[in-house]
Formats: sequence, C-alpha cells, structure tokens
Amino acid sequence: MEIIVNVAQSLNGFISGPGGKTARISSPSDQIRVHMLRASVDGILVGANTVICDNPDLTARPEDGTVVRPARIILDGGLRIPRDSKVLDSRSRTLVFTSVRDREIDGAELLVSPRVELTVPHIIDVLQELGMKKILIEGGANVISQFVESLAVTRFYLFIGQVIMPEGGVRLFSPNKEIEGAIMSSRIEPGGILLELDPEKLVNAK
Ligand SMILES: NC(=O)c1ccc[n+]([C@@H]2O[C@H](COP(=O)([O-])OP(=O)(O)OC[C@H]3O[C@@H](n4cnc5c(N)ncnc54)[C@H](OP(=O)(O)O)[C@@H]3O)[C@@H](O)[C@H]2O)c1
Repeated sequence: MEIIVNVAQSLNGFISGPGGKTARISSPSDQIRVHMLRASVDGILVGANTVICDNPDLTARPEDGTVVRPARIILDGGLRIPRDSKVLDSRSRTLVFTSVRDREIDGAELLVSPRVELTVPHIIDVLQELGMKKILIEGGANVISQFVESLAVTRFYLFIGQVIMPEGGVRLFSPNKEIEGAIMSSRIEPGGILLELDPEKLVNAK
C-alpha cells in the first residue's frame, strides 16, 4: 500500500497554534498541490484531535472546479469527534477506527477493535481489504509518528511555511535531534519550502 504523509509546519517547528489551535501554515499555491495530492488517493487519514481542532472536510478540490471525494479515515479510539464534524456530513464515505462498542454515529461506518488491536498493521490490513491502494495521512503528529515508527510510510512531504508561531503548539518532531540524510529534496515555493523527507530516517524523531 502506498502511504503518503503531507504536513505543514512553521519555521520554528509547530504544526498548530498554542493548545492545538488550528493555524494556516501552508500558502495558497501549496494548497493547490495538497488538493491535487488528495484527489489522487483512495482515502485521507487523520487522528481524532485533528478533527476536533481543525474540523477539516477532507475533500479534494482541484483547480478545475470539481470536488473529488476520497474516503475519510478517522482514528478515534475514544469516539470523541463532535457529531457536527464536517467529516460526518455523509457526502463522502467516512470510516472511523474506534474501540468504543455498541454505538453508532450518523455519517460514518465504525470499525471496532479492542484498543490494543488498533495498530498500524491492523489499520492497513483493513484498508487493503476494503480495496484501498493509496492513502494520504494529513496529521496530526501522534498519528504521523505511529505510521513512521511502523515503517509504513512510503513518501513524506513537509511544507515549511514562512511563519513563526507562538510557543505551546503541537510539534511534529522533538527538538535537539540531528537526522542525517533525512532531506531527499527541497524546493522553494511561494510562501515556503517543500521538503521530501526519507521516512525511514524519521524513526525516533518524535
Ligand atoms: N499543520 C498541519 O499540516 C496539520 C495537519 C493536521 C493536524 N494538525 C494539527 O495537529 C494537532 C493534532 O495533532 P495530535 O498529535 O494532537 O493528534 P492527532 O494525531 O490528530 O490525533 C491523536 C488521537 O487520535 C486517536 N488515535 C491515534 N492513533 C489511534 C489508533 N491507532 N487507533 C485509534 N485511535 C487513534 C487517539 O485518540 P484517543 O486517545 O481518544 O483514542 C489520539 O489521541 C491539531 O492541533 C491540528 O491543528 C496540523
């Protein structure tokens, strides 16, 4: 399975504002790239905190005015996402991996397993059984690090926006680590730099 990570961080290393507050880091032109990437995958995966903090709709809106609707995949062990989240609007297929039994929520199919079984290999197996071949992981840091640690990530894109965020936000990586050979390519874009990182070099970086 092809598993792509795409995430944006500030110049000083935060992917959110203080306390997880949602923040615009990527530039308008980078958003075009992200929407093209979204349009190319079978599913877009995020963690519960990302849904709670950002309320994304996880659709792809490429420049031609169309809306592409990959499946939305939410990791939500405790079934904490609000019932009015955009991902529950029933306009795309939404899968929620959870350990909460005997509950249903409108707008999503619940895939229930005991918490200890909600591992990356299990999640990948289920998604493959559903016919998915390519997924995009958009965050947050917790979910990304699980997939990186499992050596499941095949491509890792990091956009560094030209913004310095206040302290107290969520970090993708722990500070004070040297990761030799992590940067595979870099490109200066309007509003920031797009890096492709070697996912295997990022193990233990969180
Ligand atoms: N800049 C960007 O590109 C970007 C992109 C996305 C998000 N963000 C930011 O990232 C922040 C959120 O990141 P985060 O690291 O705090 O959280 P997260 O990764 O979005 O979500 C973590 C939560 O997801 C659930 N989860 C994780 N793995 C699971 C598994 N294997 N099975 C079942 N549930 C699982 C857990 O909820 P339970 O503990 O309830 O089980 C966990 O607490 C937000 O502030 C958001 O704004 C930034």
